[in-house]
Amino acid sequence: MTPRWKKNRLCTLLGIDHPIVQGGMVYNSGAKLAAAVSEAGGLGLIGAGSMRPELLRAQIRKARGLTDRPIGVNLPLLFSSAKESMEVALEEGIKIFFTSAGSPKRAIGPLKKAGCVVVHVAASAKLAMKCQEAGCDAVVVEGFEAGGHNGREEITTMVLVPECATALTIPVIAAGGIATGSQIAAALALGAEGVQIGSRFAITLESSGHARFKAAVVEAGAEDTHLVMKAHVPVRLLANDFRETVMDLEASGASREELMTLLGTGRARAGMLEGDMENGELEIGQVAGLINDIPPVAELMTRLLDQYDATLSRLCGG
Ligand SMILES: Cc1cc2nc3c(=O)[nH]c(=O)nc-3n(C[C@H](O)[C@H](O)[C@H](O)COP(=O)(O)O)c2cc1C
Repeated sequence: MTPRWKKNRLCTLLGIDHPIVQGGMVYNSGAKLAAAVSEAGGLGLIGAGSMRPELLRAQIRKARGLTDRPIGVNLPLLFSSAKESMEVALEEGIKIFFTSAGSPKRAIGPLKKAGCVVVHVAASAKLAMKCQEAGCDAVVVEGFEAGGHNGREEITTMVLVPECATALTIPVIAAGGIATGSQIAAALALGAEGVQIGSRFAITLESSGHARFKAAVVEAGAEDTHLVMKAHVPVRLLANDFRETVMDLEASGASREELMTLLGTGRARAGMLEGDMENGELEIGQVAGLINDIPPVAELMTRLLDQYDATLSRLCGG
């Protein structure tokens, strides 16, 4: 059966077959993952957050060698290299930007001037509305279940998506807690026009995450992730020694400086890229509980579409 989203505005905006975006993910979403997702008919995003501008350039070129389909860049705006990364991506001809971690106002002017599609990630309806007012073409609304950095608001995808879909006129892309085709159907039923999937794509063959990180997620349950550093830089992490230290420090009323010193700059790299399972930062969402294998992206995409179709048949017959 053909998936039933042929006239979707988001697919037209992004030039894709299926309204499935692979979220930008530090240390996981390089050229291989992004190209594989785009090649399978979704939109792959190269995660600029963990790349120096020249590495980003190389990864964009590598992805172009792997697919002719649209590729986007995720640009977390809080990093000091964000402006330079944006310029590099523009020089390399990137036309789709998913910005995050900051105000979209900081980037939208030059991106729109260059004729780009700009989508920003928001964790509340209030911020999503600001994205629309700033001129974004679509907004990713990311619930509290999501892996990685997260909003302080603790609003779940189930509540955030219908709230935003009702209030906004631009397409809403649901993120947070989506790893199966039935969850895609649920997100579309709530009013989203597409989904952004992070954790599930991090645990695929093409993700650049370390094999030990992937194996740990396969073993983990939904109860094994926790949002830490809520007062400073909220991030959902998998249980390990490092996370326990962070939680103990937070409970003892540690200052922002103490926590930031512990976090350092290399924890995410150590955990997810280098496989330091004790002392590294392991970002993953609650869907860890639904992730039981490490498939190639093409197989995962087929699975998602089949599950989506089966869900519609179960609900509607036919
Ligand atoms: C390992 C990991 C790293 C992430 N890094 C980023 C990032 O660099 N920039 C960003 O905007 N979002 C980042 N995210 C969030 C994802 O893009 C996506 O919105 C989120 O994972 C969706 O929720 P899910 O994990 O339940 O699928 C990250 C998520 C994970 C799991």
